[in-house]
Amino acid sequence: MLSTDPVPSPAKKRVACVLGGLGGIGHSVSRVLDQNCWTVIIGSRNAAGLNQAADSSHVVPLPGSPSDPAVWAALQNLAERSFADCIDCIIVSTGNLEFVSSLDMTRGQVEAAMDAHFYPALNALQYATRQARRNPDSRCVVIFVGSTLCHEAEMDAGPYVVAKHALLGLYRAACEDQFGLESRLAVKIICPPNVDTPLWTKAGLATGVPRPEGPDDSTEEPLKAETIAQQIYDQITQSFSKWEI
Ligand SMILES: NC(=O)c1ccc[n+]([C@@H]2O[C@H](COP(=O)([O-])OP(=O)(O)OC[C@H]3O[C@@H](n4cnc5c(N)ncnc54)[C@H](OP(=O)(O)O)[C@@H]3O)[C@@H](O)[C@H]2O)c1
Repeated sequence: MLSTDPVPSPAKKRVACVLGGLGGIGHSVSRVLDQNCWTVIIGSRNAAGLNQAADSSHVVPLPGSPSDPAVWAALQNLAERSFADCIDCIIVSTGNLEFVSSLDMTRGQVEAAMDAHFYPALNALQYATRQARRNPDSRCVVIFVGSTLCHEAEMDAGPYVVAKHALLGLYRAACEDQFGLESRLAVKIICPPNVDTPLWTKAGLATGVPRPEGPDDSTEEPLKAETIAQQIYDQITQSFSKWEI
């Protein structure tokens, strides 16, 4: 005979995918999620770094570049196999900063910046939208890590500014029209000022072009990555509490 006693079902462990999860902000947000009992999938192009991270904590590695569709096919495979086809949150925290004048930037440099900042976000949005259509029980919060340079400009960082403005445009378009999926899909952007991470402290190293001198915000004390990570986590929990009402 079936028991009529209420059996408490185990709380579902939520699953997040953090792209750029070995970087400054991505790593901090992964830690906050882990501390709050989320399962964390870390996306990175650095396979060796991912293996090291997976050895020392509970993270699930997702190797490859998030502008490459193969990474998203691998994520879907993983989600279907291990997480009932439900990734609850995707955080896009990828990018780099090189100093290239807006007057001199080339198509290749703009495309490289779009690969680092914009296409991972577009792919994340498309992934979450397809998941919501496939799996009506799923909920997903997609968070783009933007920048103050999403809505301001600096002529010395042309490709970065172009890619960040495109990212803000994508966010706005997604908020305007979510294909009727707003009860299951939330899209957010967070636009921090300077943050104390390699992107900021080592900016310009790859191309050997140093931070240009002049009046800009480089003298302002950068924020801690942990502060931004907490803001991101608060945004995620806000969406889930709204859905749970
Ligand atoms: N730090 C700041 O001052 C600041 C301010 C405002 C906004 N942001 C934004 O915050 C986000 C995270 O940056 P962060 O400060 O945490 O910098 P970070 O420590 O350098 O981390 C960024 C990560 O992005 C990944 N990445 C770099 N180039 C990429 C590319 N071409 N394609 C795919 N992934 C790439 C790298 O991961 P792998 O090498 O492991 O793949 C890297 O670890 C970025 O979008 C950045 O624009 C930063």
